[in-house]
Amino acid sequence: MTNDEDRYLREVQYRFPDRLEARAILHRRYGRADWFAWLASEIAFTPGSVVADVGCGAGALWRDAPRDVPDDLALRLVDSSPGMVAAAEATVRAAKRWSDVDAILGDATALPFPDDSIDTALAIHMLYHLSDPAAGLAELARVARPGGIVAVVLNRSGTMAELSGLLEQALGRPSARPAPCRPRMGWR
Ligand SMILES: C[S@@+](CC[C@H](N)C(=O)[O-])C[C@H]1O[C@@H](n2cnc3c(N)ncnc32)[C@H](O)[C@@H]1O
Repeated sequence: MTNDEDRYLREVQYRFPDRLEARAILHRRYGRADWFAWLASEIAFTPGSVVADVGCGAGALWRDAPRDVPDDLALRLVDSSPGMVAAAEATVRAAKRWSDVDAILGDATALPFPDDSIDTALAIHMLYHLSDPAAGLAELARVARPGGIVAVVLNRSGTMAELSGLLEQALGRPSARPAPCRPRMGWR
């Protein structure tokens, strides 16, 4: 990761979980409060399987995972921000459900896993942060075993547009920096 946007994501926006949590509070209050519980229930996790949560953030999926998500998953939590890796590990440990947990500082475009080694590879609300989303997708496909699952969750375009509008009104000009989840390079 070399450009300014990558550095901004790693060192400012996602340095610690607080900014992400501020956005999550808005989603919980004005959107779907059970989003991560619903999402986890939609993914067909196999008992005893290896799951890579790439761009895991603070581990919200695991905080809210319903009881029928198997407790014997091997979790590989990957994020490019040390603050997020630490937060995700703390979240998962606090849940006291999974014991095989590895929290890893890593890049979605160079995952630290061998080919075909992951049963379920997740990229939740993160692929649009990559300067080359296709490379991230290819990497998920590389590490997923044949017949495994690759699950990608994106935001619809215009997500949080109302909030951006309010910010622009308050500033009297477009905000200096693109909204963190704005799709780039035409990626939807
Ligand atoms: C919008 S947050 C989503 C976090 C989590 N998946 C969730 O849904 O709550 C995006 C996450 O992707 C991480 N991220 C951004 N670029 C990354 C990269 N190249 N490799 C790994 N993680 C990255 C950020 O540090 C941040 O934690």
